[in-house]
Amino acid sequence: MSDRGSRWDEVYRNKSADTVSWFQARPTLSLTLIEHAGVPKGAPVIDVGGGASSLVDHLLREDYADLTVMDLSDSALATSRERLGDSARQVDWITGDVLAFAPLKRYALWHDRAVFHFLVDADSRRRYLDALRRASQAGTQIVMATFAEDGPDRCSGLPVARYGVRELHAMFGADYELLESTRETHRTPGGTDQHFSWVRLQRVR
Ligand SMILES: C[S@@+](CC[C@H](N)C(=O)[O-])C[C@H]1O[C@@H](n2cnc3c(N)ncnc32)[C@H](O)[C@@H]1O
Repeated sequence: MSDRGSRWDEVYRNKSADTVSWFQARPTLSLTLIEHAGVPKGAPVIDVGGGASSLVDHLLREDYADLTVMDLSDSALATSRERLGDSARQVDWITGDVLAFAPLKRYALWHDRAVFHFLVDADSRRRYLDALRRASQAGTQIVMATFAEDGPDRCSGLPVARYGVRELHAMFGADYELLESTRETHRTPGGTDQHFSWVRLQRVR
C-alpha cells in the first residue's frame, strides 16, 4: 500500500467513523445535488474518496443500481461494507488512489466530498483531472465539495487548498459547465463549524 493509503488507513483505524471531523449523519447536500443531476437510476455513479460515508447506503435505498465507492483506505471501505451487510454486494468497492485510477467504465456521475482539496500541488490536480477525463464522457455530471476560501487550512494533519465556487469551477476548465453552486457550514462531531464550497458541473466536451 502507498504511504498515502497507510496514512488514511491509520486515521480510520484510530477513530470510529462517526467521530472523524467530516462525519455527517446524513449527507444531505450530496443527496440534493445528486437528485438535481437527474441521472437515470441504472447509470454508473462513483463516490471518489467515499471513505466510510453513508452516501452509498442512501443511494442504494434510492435504487441507484450501478454504484462504485473508491478510497485509498481499505479500512474505511470495510466499515461501509460491514454496515451495509448483504447490500454491500451490490456495490463495486475499489481500494486505490484516484490519481492513478484506470476506470473500467465511464461514469454518469462523479461525486467527491472533501477529497480534491487535499491536492495542493498543480501536478496532483492535473492527475486528478486526467483520471476524471478517463472516467467520464460528455454529459457526465460532477458533484464536488471542498473547503471554502474561509474554511480550515488543514484536515487530519494534512494541508488543503481552499476554494470559492468560482475558483473551484475554474480548476476544471472550459470543458466543464457550472450548473449549480452553494456554500455550506458543516458542524463537525467536535462542534466546530467548517465552511464548504459545493459545485455541480457537467462535462460538455
Ligand atoms: C475528508 S475524507 C472524506 C470522506 C468522504 N468523502 C465523506 O464525505 O465522508 C477524505 C477521504 O478521501 C480519501 N482520499 C484521500 N486522498 C485520496 C486519493 N488520492 N484517492 C482516493 N481516496 C483518497 C481518504 O482516505 C478519505 O476517506
